[in-house]
Amino acid sequence: MIEQKLLEYNTLLEDRINEIYPELDVEYNKVLEASRYSLMLGGKRIRPALVFEFCKLCGGDMNSAIDFAIAIEMIHTYSLIHDDLPCMDNDDMRRGKPSCHKKYGEDIALLAGDTLLTEAFFIASNANVRPEIALKAVSILASNAGLHGMIGGQVLDLSFEENTPDVNELQNMYMRKTGALLIASAILGCIAAGKDDEETIKSATKYGYNLGLAFQIIDDILDITSNEATLGKPIGSDEKNGKTTFVSLYGLDKAFAIAAELSNAALDALDEIGGNTETLYELTNYLLDRNK
Ligand code: IPE
Ligand code: IPE
Ligand code: MG
Ligand code: MG
Ligand code: MG
Repeated sequence: MIEQKLLEYNTLLEDRINEIYPELDVEYNKVLEASRYSLMLGGKRIRPALVFEFCKLCGGDMNSAIDFAIAIEMIHTYSLIHDDLPCMDNDDMRRGKPSCHKKYGEDIALLAGDTLLTEAFFIASNANVRPEIALKAVSILASNAGLHGMIGGQVLDLSFEENTPDVNELQNMYMRKTGALLIASAILGCIAAGKDDEETIKSATKYGYNLGLAFQIIDDILDITSNEATLGKPIGSDEKNGKTTFVSLYGLDKAFAIAAELSNAALDALDEIGGNTETLYELTNYLLDRNK
């Protein structure tokens, strides 16, 4: 059921990407090809699904949400391309295929990431919504992807290869490196629907925050318990890079129990918003029990 929904959303997303971010025959087309390679390899498309579902929950129309969904997926994909680079996690596989730098070289991979980040803002600012909605969306994208969001989290992640964090420091890092883009996805959906009252944004933020932490803890667990074929990326990456994770701090079982608690807190946040939360409930539970 939820898999079917994700597939539907993926088709919607990819059709629109082909419309507004198509292959082109330009002299510098290599970087476009590399960016589209990583973007179109698939992935779970969780962030777009959250944008769509929160937009629906807030009574909005999918046409208002689609370009924000693309923008957040482009920013997420850029973060993965850079995360895999030799100077970062040095991982050779992503989404079941060679990482961008393995296929196109480090120079083009770096620029492909830069391209996705930049074009995401072009797409969001030109979304088919009222200008004040586009402006709010651009601000949410920037603040969550930027210094105090995903980038800040990635910097903390690197610094923890040298210094072992305590649980609060680790949680703060997860909230930024992973939580921020999930928080942004939920908020973008609300904004697309024109619902941006304080209460709604607070609950959407609470949802994204708790889901983000749970999501990253499950990612850490899968890095140990899954296999490359299922996961589509190398396992053992965290150990290879000497990362502290919830699993290294607490062990597999306790780490899962914490993720389950956080996932419940995310469901509570949905209850605060109310309305038909059925699909979001399903999605939240699916992400806790996922195997990739
Ligand atoms: C991977 O994100 C990076 C993390 C934030 C843990 P996803 O697990 O959403 O990756 P894709 O999009 O499905 O490839
Ligand atoms: C990455 O965390 C989060 C990002 C901002 C890309 P990880 O380094 O654990 O993500 P994976 O496991 O490589 O997808
Ligand atoms: Mg990393
Ligand atoms: Mg990584
Ligand atoms: Mg990981």
